[in-house]
Amino acid sequence: MKIIQVKNYEEMSSKAAEILIKKVQEKKNVNLGLATGGTPTGLYQTLIEDHQENGTSYKDVTSFNLDEYIGLEKEDPNSYHYYMVDSLFKHIDIEHTYLPNGLAPNIEKECKRYDQLIADHGGIDLQILGIGENGHIGFNEPGTSFNAPTHVVTLEESTRQANARYFDSIEDVPTHAITMGIETIMKSKEILLLISGEKKAEAMNKLLQGDITEDFPASILKKHNCVTIIADQQALSGVL
Ligand code: F6R
Repeated sequence: MKIIQVKNYEEMSSKAAEILIKKVQEKKNVNLGLATGGTPTGLYQTLIEDHQENGTSYKDVTSFNLDEYIGLEKEDPNSYHYYMVDSLFKHIDIEHTYLPNGLAPNIEKECKRYDQLIADHGGIDLQILGIGENGHIGFNEPGTSFNAPTHVVTLEESTRQANARYFDSIEDVPTHAITMGIETIMKSKEILLLISGEKKAEAMNKLLQGDITEDFPASILKKHNCVTIIADQQALSGVL
């Protein structure tokens, strides 16, 4: 794993944007894996500014998101679909965007369909990841098999608490989600993991110093041959 140390969230976002834009310039029809949450919003804002100022085009790009809540309408402001449209898609010229469908009548079938869709497109070239305080990637909570394909998860209470900031109350946070599995994520040709803030310092430390274990899902990334971590000073504050 290559680590790029940056000062703060802003620097992390612009460095990540630089890497992503270079990919898009090198391969017009690149397949991007995208994440939601607080971590990539600065990256997306930087992509929007670059699109407006420099005209970087996403017309031939295809994106696949990591996860989606089960039971929320696409128009629900808390759905990841809404987040992606609002934070990125509606501001750039991207035409081919995919997220798991959390309202599919047959969720098991939807998980299989999503993995097949990614495979049919030739796989993900660059996957953007954030990390949960408990080491989750996507919604793969501790204990998830490293061999899991896209699947349904029951969200941990701590994950629901962490995400409750976007909802009116904790009761409104869905209990289940569809997530790309670790196996799906590991098939990506290249992975860019973004880590910012003091809250992530313990996870950062565990990732660098700990063993590879299903109890800490992100630890599997050590086995991938092309992972870049962009981490800021606060995230690295616990690392000696
Ligand atoms: C989001 C996702 C999650 C987040 C993680 C960190 O699509 O898959 O794994 O990356 O929960 O969330 P933030 O960035 O809000 O700290």
